Amino acid sequence: MELKGDVEIKQVLHYGSLNNMMMTVFGKYYDFGENGDGLELEGFVSEGYKLLGTFNLSDHFPILGWLDVQGVRRRSRKLVSKVDGFVRKIIDDHSMVTDQDNNHGYFVDVLLDLERENKITRSDMVAVLWEMIFRGTDTVAILLEWILARLVLHPDIQAKALAEIETTIGSSRAVMESDIPNLPYLQAIVKETLRMHPPGPLLSWARLAIHDTHVGQYFVPAGTTAMVNMWAIAHDKGIWSEPEEFRPERFIEQDVSVMGSDMRLAPFGSGRRVCPGKTMGLATVHIWLAVLLRNFEWTSKDDVDLTEVLKMSMEMKNPLVCKVVARVF
Ligand code: HEM
Repeated sequence: MELKGDVEIKQVLHYGSLNNMMMTVFGKYYDFGENGDGLELEGFVSEGYKLLGTFNLSDHFPILGWLDVQGVRRRSRKLVSKVDGFVRKIIDDHSMVTDQDNNHGYFVDVLLDLERENKITRSDMVAVLWEMIFRGTDTVAILLEWILARLVLHPDIQAKALAEIETTIGSSRAVMESDIPNLPYLQAIVKETLRMHPPGPLLSWARLAIHDTHVGQYFVPAGTTAMVNMWAIAHDKGIWSEPEEFRPERFIEQDVSVMGSDMRLAPFGSGRRVCPGKTMGLATVHIWLAVLLRNFEWTSKDDVDLTEVLKMSMEMKNPLVCKVVARVF
């Protein structure tokens, strides 16, 4: 990844994250340049985000669902069939060059082993792999963009994080995953960003009540779709002191898990449908952030606009444009 001068960082992070996922899953790296082999894949991912982000009128007026006036059903069917062919081909290509005793331990190899033991079907494999690619790409990229926006806005916090990295790792060797537990301030920055800008603020949390039930003082009849507004909880004055202040120190002062056990901050959800990629997502964000901070200084000549827009994830309305200066060791 080459960074130089003023950069609109969103697309760089998106392609980086997509390639990170494709490497983890299949051991395959794509070129997203003009005429690159990654453009077809990128097209599927962005069509999927567009479809899921479309305000679906038929959720509110079921008759429109039957008519499919927005063409959502037709486009979804077309996308599913194309994605199915695409993912099946990568699995086929991969299984031709690997077998049980000669694999590189990519995620697809684990699934291929399960398939040999008749524990998973090929179509389930395709679904699992595509879910990982689709759900794991933009969440990571969007969270990193918010973190970098915050670090541009708060140079003091950026300097403190860099000082922690320099003291812990020094400047003569590369950052490693095993360094992350020794970087509590860097972890606190990630938590504070997840609190202020959770990439999945409410939509993914949709739950259907299958029985009449009570939640606190509220009666929820069977058939109701309910959503948890994580964004509101994370900005609630009754739960967080000065919730509008970006202050990573709050997570040094008190240990709050973000993995789903503490409902004050559950940006990956909680319970049976909790994000299955939370450990991988967090590990990726930590290591990338440590590398990006160690190697570059992040500033901007323009004001950083923190306006949020809710698409499939909650994104920056105006993508971050920042000046990226390589640090000299
Ligand atoms: C910073 C990164 C990430 C954030 C903030 C995030 C957040 C979320 C949230 C809020 C949900 C909904 C949970 C619920 O409904 O209770 C979810 C679901 C999901 N996430 Fe993540 N996620 C991230 C990274 C990843 C990664 C890296 C992967 C794949 C490797 C992934 C795969 C999934 C899948 C497959 C689901 C659907 C689970 C289901 O419906 O049962 N996510 N994520």
